[in-house]
Parts: sequence; structure tokens; C-alpha cells
Amino acid sequence: MEKDISIELSSIFVIFGGTGDLTKRKLIPAIFSLMYENKLPEKFTIVSIGRREKTNIQYREEMYQFTKKFSRFPLNDKLWNDFSKKIFYKNFDFTTDNNGYKNLDLFLEGMETKYLTGGRRLYYLAVAPEFFEGIIRNLKNNNMVSKETGWQRIMIEKPFGSSLKTARILNHNISKLIPEEDIFRIDHYLGKEMIQNILAIRFGNSLFEPLWNANYIDNIQITSNELLGVENRGAYYENAGILKDMLQNHLLQMLTMIAMEPPVDFDSESIRDEKVKVLRSLRPFTSKSFKEDIVRGQYGERTVDGVKLVGYRQEEKVAKDSNTDTFIALKTYIDNFRWGGVPIYIRAGKRLDTKSTEIVIQFKKLAGINYYKEFNKIGHNLLVLKIQPQEGFFFQINAKKPGNDFKMEKVELDYCQSCKYVNDSPEAYERLLLEAIRNNSSLFTRWDELEYSWKFIESIEKEYENSITNYPNYAAGTSGPEEAIKLIKKDGREWWNTSPYEGV
Ligand code: BG6
Repeated sequence: MEKDISIELSSIFVIFGGTGDLTKRKLIPAIFSLMYENKLPEKFTIVSIGRREKTNIQYREEMYQFTKKFSRFPLNDKLWNDFSKKIFYKNFDFTTDNNGYKNLDLFLEGMETKYLTGGRRLYYLAVAPEFFEGIIRNLKNNNMVSKETGWQRIMIEKPFGSSLKTARILNHNISKLIPEEDIFRIDHYLGKEMIQNILAIRFGNSLFEPLWNANYIDNIQITSNELLGVENRGAYYENAGILKDMLQNHLLQMLTMIAMEPPVDFDSESIRDEKVKVLRSLRPFTSKSFKEDIVRGQYGERTVDGVKLVGYRQEEKVAKDSNTDTFIALKTYIDNFRWGGVPIYIRAGKRLDTKSTEIVIQFKKLAGINYYKEFNKIGHNLLVLKIQPQEGFFFQINAKKPGNDFKMEKVELDYCQSCKYVNDSPEAYERLLLEAIRNNSSLFTRWDELEYSWKFIESIEKEYENSITNYPNYAAGTSGPEEAIKLIKKDGREWWNTSPYEGV
């Protein structure tokens, strides 16, 4: 495999939250895959920090089990041996122990000498959001960021704040400690292969760009269906709900990629400048539009073939009378020149009957071709971007059905990228870690993007207190509340469900 590495990539991954789920399931396997694919230089190392006591050997053994299970590539003894020698574990209480930071810095300096990583450190905060600011403050107080040598960057997991107000406070506080260009705020959807493909499809095809506007597009639909419920994350989910867990970040990020203007170049700032304009143009909800254009839901229990699927209120650490949403469907608009009047339908839910994320661009029908009645039966042209589980896209067009009669039929030009490149799509976290050490911020959210997305969310959330919910209102393993179908039907449209069915 070809080496694609510059010296600037020799760095130390410093992971706070080293014993957490994210580190075990995503981060360590992702770094392993990067090494497997020769994307990292010989000289890199990983230092994980956790509060539990463990030796390096115990930690490596634990990581072995998870990497074996979650890595994209098979483990063999030689590879694992090379990789595991680079993993170190340090335990201290990163919330209170200032000496722990001092010792960590000394340890990292030692690693820097040994591994020649030149002061390049990527601090990954894989911890609960309430610890973000404290860790950054401690790093700053101990001169572990903005050093004279190398670079020190901080990757922060979502959620960034829990409301517009708290996000602003957090940002205000951390921006006094580190410069914006060293903050890499994660939205793992931006690391997904097909999300990156949006730019290629939009700006690499003369076919689409001229039609990509209100003159030719009837509506846009973004769907994110999940099979799973909240699993063991009830405590977090009770505060977040689908609004803050999915809409504020992943779904709005997908929308910005679909709707933004062509950036002047592919620089991080140019791309993010355009994305933020979309968020600024997003029409906020009012009491009226909240009532008319939003459907909320929560899954209830259901028994399928004798097997009981629990409802949200029966999940661990969830209140028995919880009114948290696990489903949302809405219609909104982007009030700018390109998109004026084009409805944007977004829906997302947990514990549904499919796992699929897709974006549908529905084109307008041709006007006036009704002299031949067969044309009245033709379908819409659809461009469907299949984000997951299958990656690819298809284009629905109308064509003549073979035969002596002039009959029309809908045909699909279907491209399955994940069938063509089996196992070749990097996991989102691989891409994000790599882009952070390459200093490419375009896959990370800038503060102003977050600020505008929180403003939009706030326009919805402020209506919650005046609205009545009658939960649960959809059964686990079904397609969600009936009302969501009516939401789009009343506009004379329908949700397109194009991804493969995956069962309950
Ligand atoms: C996370 C949410 O950010 O994204 C989860 O917190 C959600 O609740 C997940 O399940 C979905 O990610 P993916 O990559 O499985 O679509």
C-alpha cells in the first residue's frame, strides 16, 4: 500500500475518556485502521487517560478485544503487536488533579523525544460535555496548549452546549483559552463518505448544478431512521431528545451541504462560510408553524412474535412519564434566493422499522406535456443520496416501456458505491482523526454554524411548553407516528422510502 504521509502527521493522540465507549468502539479501532492503511507515519503514539486504575498491559488487552470487534480490518499478531506498543494508559482524575496534568505533560514530553512527534498533540475530549471546559482550562494552565513547538489541537465531541445560551457560554469561555483554529468540533456525519460525496456530486456534474434551485426542485427530504432505541443512554437522552441529539447537528449539517452555494474554493473557511449562510437563512419556527409543520413522537412498547420491544418510558434511566421526543418530522424553508419557496422536509426517529439515512431531491414535473395522457402518469425525477447503510445514489427518470404501445415507466439508475468498493469506505472517525492532524477543519463545525443551528432549535424548543403531547404515540419497530405522513400529504406530496428494508 502506498505511503501518503508527511512529517506533520507524526503526533500524539491524547484521549481523555480512555475507558469510555467511544474510545473503545470508535477511536482506537479507527486509529488502528489508519495505521493498517498506511495513513499514519511510523512515529505516532496514543496516550489514553481515564480515572480507573489499569496498567498499560491491561489497557492494551482491553483495546485488543474491542479493536478485534470494531476495526474495519482483520487483526494479526504482528500488526497488533506493532500497534499496541504505541498505546499508553495514564490514570488520574482529570476533573480535579492538577498534578495529574503536570505529570501527563512530562510524560508527553518524554514521548515526544522518543517518538520525534515534535510537540504535535491532538487532545481528544471523549468525555461528557460538562468536563470540556475544565479539561481545556487545565491544559491551558499547565502550558499544554499553544506551545511554541508543533501544534496542539483539541477535538470536542458533541453536544456542544445544551441550548443557545449554554453553547454561547461554553464557547466564550473556551475561546479565551485556545484559538478557534485549534478547536475541532465533531459532527461525525461530516466524516461519512456519502456526506463528503455531496460536494462532488453537486459541484462535479454539469447535469445537476443548473437545476439545483427553486425553479426546478419541488422539495427536499432528509430522513434518518434508526432501528435502535436509546439503549443505555437514557440519562443523556432525557435531556437531549431527538431535537438536540440529531436535528441540531447531523440533520442540519446534511442540509447545509445540500443547500449551500458553491464555495470559492475547497478551503475549510470557504466551505464553512457558505454553510453558515444556509443556517442563517433557515426560517425559524413560530407558534403557528410549530403547530402546523412539526410532528413529534415517542416510541411505546410492542410485542412482535412473542418478543417484547420496550417502550422509551421503560428504558433504563428514563422517567416513567417522560415527554422526551424520540421522533420528529418537520417542514421548513430556506429563505434565500436559491431556495425561496422550496419545502424542506426532515424526519428522524429512533426505534423505527428501518435503518436508513438518505436525502431525496425531488424535481418538479414538466409543465404542459399533457396532450398525451400517458405523460400524466409519469413519476417525479428523484435524485436520492443514500448515506447509509448502503452508500450510493440513484436517479429516478421516466422512459418508454418496451413494446408496441407507447407506455411510460419509471426507471432507476442505481449506483451502489458500497457494493463496488466493499469495505473501502473509511469509518467516519478515521476520516475525522486524519483530517484533524492534517489541519483540515472543513469537516468540523465552526462556532457560527453552531450558533445559528442552536437559534433554529431554540425557535422549536420554546414552543414545547405550550404544546400537549400524548405519548407514546408510535409503537417500537414501526414507521413512526401517522401524523408524520399527514404532514407531507396535506401538501400533496409523500415521503420517499427508497433504502432497503432492514426489519425490526
Ligand atoms: C449520535 C447520536 O450522534 O448519532 C445517536 O447521539 C445516534 O443517538 C447516532 O444513534 C447515529 O449515528 P449513525 O452514524 O449510526 O447514523
